[in-house]
Amino acid sequence: MLANKKILICVTGGIAVYKAVALVSKLSQAGADVKVVMTKSAMEFVTPLTFQAMSRNDVYFDTFDEKDSRVIAHIDLADWADLVIVAPATANVIGKVANGISDDMVTTVLLATTAEVWFAPAMNVNMYEKRSVIRNIDTLAKDGYRFIEPSEGFLACGYVGKGRLEEPEKIVKLVQENFVPKNLPLTGKKVVITAGPTRERIDPVRYVSNFSSGKMGYAMAEAATKLGAKTILVSGPVSLNPPSGVQVIHVESAAEMFEAVSRNYDDAEIVIKAAAVADYRPAEIHPQKIKKSDSDSVINLERTTDILKTLGERKQQQILVGFAAETENVIENGMGKLERKNLDFIIINDVTDPDGGFGNDTNVVTLLSKNGTNKLYPAMPKNDLATLLLEAIIEEVKVGNSHDR
Ligand code: PMT
Repeated sequence: MLANKKILICVTGGIAVYKAVALVSKLSQAGADVKVVMTKSAMEFVTPLTFQAMSRNDVYFDTFDEKDSRVIAHIDLADWADLVIVAPATANVIGKVANGISDDMVTTVLLATTAEVWFAPAMNVNMYEKRSVIRNIDTLAKDGYRFIEPSEGFLACGYVGKGRLEEPEKIVKLVQENFVPKNLPLTGKKVVITAGPTRERIDPVRYVSNFSSGKMGYAMAEAATKLGAKTILVSGPVSLNPPSGVQVIHVESAAEMFEAVSRNYDDAEIVIKAAAVADYRPAEIHPQKIKKSDSDSVINLERTTDILKTLGERKQQQILVGFAAETENVIENGMGKLERKNLDFIIINDVTDPDGGFGNDTNVVTLLSKNGTNKLYPAMPKNDLATLLLEAIIEEVKVGNSHDR
């Protein structure tokens, strides 16, 4: 969820610095690009090397140590960040920032940044309740800074009270919530997309499959996520990197794809089947590699489950979208699949078109709906096409609203 998000952690001096290490680690694991700036006091507790290892980035602590002569480090870091978190935030740094003081790397970055800044205070309970500290926090809150309140409990100084740095897991959750796109057409909606081929095993080294690269399905998954969806991508074997923010379930065979899609079907809002699922599989999987002989060989095939047709039979609230890969009578055949499989939409591609189909970066398709709308999309990159198709589907479902599912 935090892929491509740039988060700057400003670490100031308190025993809770050890929790900032966990915070940096968890943010990095969640996909964020994390950089760390430390005060001299923070370095009394944990060395910069620890943060460097956790963030896989340089750690900054000296305003006059310019690691890259082409930029001014504190301005560069201030401009780089999407979000700045001061954790742990001491009474000292809160007081300095509230009064516009910048006399070290942390406070110069905080003064220079235009990104949102959060403070996660950690200190002794009596310090936290001191009028001057409360005044400084109020000043910063009025200036638009956000505070992650410390929790209550046993403090390192021996007191019990409010002053513990909030748990790293909780801070990561707040960061994730902060970056969830709001008010997009698919915000909060679960969209299940299948992509790629399936492989049906013959023996331990051979299989039946097709030429699907997964590009169309992955493009649909990326587009759905950008429109706010919680996207589950059920992917056959492909060599593509999953789009960021998408939950990927890797499968091999049609049977595994059926199981994964069924598991995610009941609460799905939209299901899009871009995968090229094998219609047949070897009737028998040989446990050992089949030995070659001088004579010809025959492999008996049996039908796989038609996943989309089964989903159509079980359809409740879901908007069901199929793809049709056709080589002749393209529209008629596609329309037949729309009806037979009880779909809301079908995206028909003529897979003999040199600008579309299997493996290409572009596609040419016709979108048909059960309400009779029919739109041809000329050759264009699969990513652009995916966004247009999803927008058209969302628009028709919202406007038409006559999808008696
Ligand atoms: O992956 P790319 O290289 O980018 O190529 C994209 C694509 C050509 C694979 C894609 O655009 C596409 O057309 N996908 C559907 C391929 C296909 O299997 O079409 P079909 O006409 O055979 O099947 C119709 C629909 O039924 C499809 O949505 C398919 O996922 C589904 N089906 C088919 C068989 C089966 N056993 N279960 C299914 O769910």
